[in-house]
Amino acid sequence: MASSILSDCSSSATARLLPFHRKLHTQDFRFHRSVSIPLRPPSPTSSRSAASRFWSLSAVTPVAMTTDTSAKLIDGKMVAKQIKDEIAGEIAKMKDAIGIVPGLAVILVGARKDSQTYVRNKKKACEAVGIKSYEVHLPEDSTEEEVLKHISGFNDDPSVHGILVQLPLPRHMNEQSILNAVSIEKDVDGFHPLNIGRLAMQGREPLFVPCTPKGCMELLHRYAVDIKGKRAVVVGRSNIVGMPAALLLQKANATISIVHSYTKNPEEITRQADIVIAAVGVANLVRGSWIKPGAVVIDVGINPIDDPESPRGYRLVGDVCYEEVSKIASAITPVPGGVGPMTIAMLLSNTLDSAKRIHNFK
Ligand code: GUN
Repeated sequence: MASSILSDCSSSATARLLPFHRKLHTQDFRFHRSVSIPLRPPSPTSSRSAASRFWSLSAVTPVAMTTDTSAKLIDGKMVAKQIKDEIAGEIAKMKDAIGIVPGLAVILVGARKDSQTYVRNKKKACEAVGIKSYEVHLPEDSTEEEVLKHISGFNDDPSVHGILVQLPLPRHMNEQSILNAVSIEKDVDGFHPLNIGRLAMQGREPLFVPCTPKGCMELLHRYAVDIKGKRAVVVGRSNIVGMPAALLLQKANATISIVHSYTKNPEEITRQADIVIAAVGVANLVRGSWIKPGAVVIDVGINPIDDPESPRGYRLVGDVCYEEVSKIASAITPVPGGVGPMTIAMLLSNTLDSAKRIHNFK
């Protein structure tokens, strides 16, 4: 039971400031006492992604940054469902028009329970929208050459439009050479160095944007959070989430800081942010005292913590202490039901975009 003095988060053994041990691999809203951030009405983005085109269909309330005492919930589950419904409609149209359905190939090496769950969820989501999924499961002790052989086969297979190698890979494998082997045209994870490089450069566009950071941005856009000129802090600098999230915020004209395990004063820096994306993989790290009143907080973390009251013996919490931060922020994503469902929706969106590009289907 949470005490009224001590927050639940303060009792978490993992809620330590430094070092960040683990690498992430992984309504009734009242507009009270609005502070300086103006509202932007939902409107189409300039991105070519299928997901961003759904923007105009979204029926979500804009977020004003306020000093109200309870944050608006940013409902990733609901937004992801809207996006998936739209993708299913587009795939049906494409099949009718040109007889092609998008195909996604997933390569899983080893038997990590979390990776198996992610891959199973991706497969289910593909089936639900009409994407054909191809799966390869390789044992932990497979060689890098075996993985490369499967990638090469999928690169050459015209029925496959997206290739995803589930991370992390076993330690004996060279992640870099494996990700480099994925055809840039089928790199639906957006992890190929050419795609990341284009994301980092002004005036260049990647063919694909990594799914989790893209999902974070989609939530900000759909909830009409103004980004241009705002201060944003990304907590965590993983290749999968933190680094590309920072690049995307910068592309959207935010002034960004990245807080990481060597940052001297993470709390003070984060407290300056209008927008916080927490992606560090440490349960409840970001406390209420880290947050500027009225900030918008996107929590990417999915951390299991012991909970004897749960039938499974554990429950999932984010990198953000929801109990404290929801009283200070103007809007916040929950865990679960926030960024998680958006990651899968963005993967489906990238796969559909890839199939359309390859078959020149508008
Ligand atoms: N492992 C954790 N997140 C991801 C992801 O977005 N893509 C891949 N390929 N592996 C992951």
